[in-house]
Amino acid sequence: MTSRFSFDLQATDGKARKGVISTPRGDIRTPAFMPVGTAATVKAMMPESVRATGADILLGNTYHLMLRPTAERIDRLGGLHKFMNWDRPILTDSGGFQVMSLAGLRKLTEKGVTFKSHIDGSRHELTPERSMEIQRLLGSDIVMCFDECPALPATDAEVSKSMQMSMRWAARSKDAFGDRPGHALFGIQQGGVTKDLRAESAALLRDIEFDGYAVGGLAVGEGQEAMFGVLDYAPDMLPEHKPRYLMGVGKPDDIVGAVARGIDMMDCVLPSRSGRTGQVFTRHGVVNIKNARHADDPRPLDENCTCPACSNYSRAYLHHVFRSNEMISGMLLTWHNLHYFQDLMQGMRDAIEIGAFDKFVTDFHEGRAQGDI
Ligand code: GUN
Ligand code: ZN
Repeated sequence: MTSRFSFDLQATDGKARKGVISTPRGDIRTPAFMPVGTAATVKAMMPESVRATGADILLGNTYHLMLRPTAERIDRLGGLHKFMNWDRPILTDSGGFQVMSLAGLRKLTEKGVTFKSHIDGSRHELTPERSMEIQRLLGSDIVMCFDECPALPATDAEVSKSMQMSMRWAARSKDAFGDRPGHALFGIQQGGVTKDLRAESAALLRDIEFDGYAVGGLAVGEGQEAMFGVLDYAPDMLPEHKPRYLMGVGKPDDIVGAVARGIDMMDCVLPSRSGRTGQVFTRHGVVNIKNARHADDPRPLDENCTCPACSNYSRAYLHHVFRSNEMISGMLLTWHNLHYFQDLMQGMRDAIEIGAFDKFVTDFHEGRAQGDI
């Protein structure tokens, strides 16, 4: 029986790691990129199409789903997997981060946070206990602790105070989560860009003991250099034999840099959101399909990509449907972007396996430096 959650670290190359997370709903190959399915859908994609891009796991959001259609309704309808027709693993974020970025009129106390819905202005409360309850009702496979991510810039004293509260909330999250075989609870490291605070946060989380550990509080406007500065030490502070998840990252070069520094999992809206705004990721860099230079171009987006958008359509067609606001535009470009991100992850997994990660990184940057795309 493989009904329990486990992480098998299969190969390392420098700090980069290749492994497999096993769950009762299937394996997650790491380094893993998790497409974001905020409102019980990866926008513009059928779940079977998301799977066809190579995704092993999706991300869902406590904040959005508690407001609409509510966790209780999803539970009555058989859980989030059944509701959205995705039977593989789902990781859910805990809500605090989204409250801070999306909700109106927030009030933060030791108990939790009260806020007004961005949808209809109704009042709600999230606490570590309520977040665990919602994520249980959804049927999430990987549950995130309820935390607070301080807005940057902030002083060390402010970041420390916020981190200490997140660590108390982590302990409450663990108590409320209880013992749920086959389901995992991840802690979230905070501490801003200050090494001592990151170390303190990691030590507190390790004492509580989680099934995996996230690096939170990054990609909030500090810039890639500062983020990589933190990632030069933060993953090393977390247990070696547990998955490490960098939340909300990122662009392809952020992802490659994070994996090089010991990160196993990531999520970002970038490939799906960009697919709807005409931004396309390729091995040679970003293409904006809106650009008039594509109007007569019979070539595919990327002649080496095997996705439906590249196999069957020209840049001229993709340009036309984007300019015409046709729905197929978002569908095809999202498919391509998700395919590109998953290809990138597969390339890194293969490279780590054979000890060629450095060469992979060099080739990755060279491909992007090639210019005319
Ligand atoms: N998503 C991106 N960053 C964070 C974070 O620090 N905490 C949580 N819960 N979600 C995130
Ligand atoms: Zn493609």
